Amino acid sequence: MGSATPLNIPASAAALFQDLPKGKWWGIIEYVQFEGFWYSAPRLQASLTARSNFEALDDDVILASCPKTGTTWLKALIPSIMNRTGEFKDDDSDDPLLKNHPNAFMPSLEMKIFRDTPNPDLSDMVSPRLFRTHVPYTMLSESAQKSDCKIVYITRDPKDAFVSFWHFMNTNVPPSLGKLPIDAAFESFCKGVYPFGPLQDHALGYFQESQMRPEKILFLKYEELKKDPKGQLKKLASFLGKPFVNEEEVDKILWRCSLERLKSLEVNQNGVDPWDGLAYKTYFRLGNVGDWKNSLTPEMKDRLDEITLKKLEGSDLVFGSS
Ligand code: A3P
Repeated sequence: MGSATPLNIPASAAALFQDLPKGKWWGIIEYVQFEGFWYSAPRLQASLTARSNFEALDDDVILASCPKTGTTWLKALIPSIMNRTGEFKDDDSDDPLLKNHPNAFMPSLEMKIFRDTPNPDLSDMVSPRLFRTHVPYTMLSESAQKSDCKIVYITRDPKDAFVSFWHFMNTNVPPSLGKLPIDAAFESFCKGVYPFGPLQDHALGYFQESQMRPEKILFLKYEELKKDPKGQLKKLASFLGKPFVNEEEVDKILWRCSLERLKSLEVNQNGVDPWDGLAYKTYFRLGNVGDWKNSLTPEMKDRLDEITLKKLEGSDLVFGSS
């Protein structure tokens, strides 16, 4: 672990903190912009702590994403791939997902591990350790970038991610705040003022790295997982060094991690995440590609598509499935 200043914000960054550009997220919550990305102050603090102090091991697996891009699906799939024994009980009673929300298997670097301390004790984590993060590539610790640890990245059409996030927030804000109007939410999102946004820049950072080092970073798209779950799952398992030996394993894991199943489990219907206080059920909604059509006007669609196109100009990244 590296040496820590109080809360381990490097002195220069701590000084910068108050002078950082500020934006109101959905007109309500103050966000700050750091190195091109938007954070709430506590999240930035924890992210900087993780960047300074997280020592990745070569066999770690880190799941990275922007919020609402399919992270929960991967939080279920990756541990199921990594921890499988090759045998599955027919009634699924051997499945840890039965009693635990997927968050339990891939702790968040900035929302849990480094949230309250610069020196967390990770000695009881067994290898291969599994983590997740929402930070952009440039905010990963040096060892996460340079070691042989694997990074799985998932992204999604920004329009669907935005609509998913808008619903997520509306089910989680205190009733006193009322419903967050979609127009204000959309305005913020278009400016990139969204946790860890702009989503397009976030995806582009990981995409470019994945092109240079495909053995280190696997770049996945929610739409492709939905279109060809078996093919994508096999690709993921091979990337993680745990290729499937038969189709039965693939089918079983896809079923165990399916939205339909996870949504119906008691733990996910009634549980609450102890770290962020969010009801587990709000992590599972429709899981449809193109659901934005039910919430965005044609003008909103055109505006966001144009922003996305501009941001991706000159790159090979295209959102959605091919
Ligand atoms: P929708 O709101 O469009 O339904 P994240 O996990 O990054 O927060 O993303 C949440 C989105 O992924 C939500 O999309 C949610 O319904 C969907 N999702 C959650 N678990 C899933 C699963 N097991 N399979 C497919 N989609 C899932």
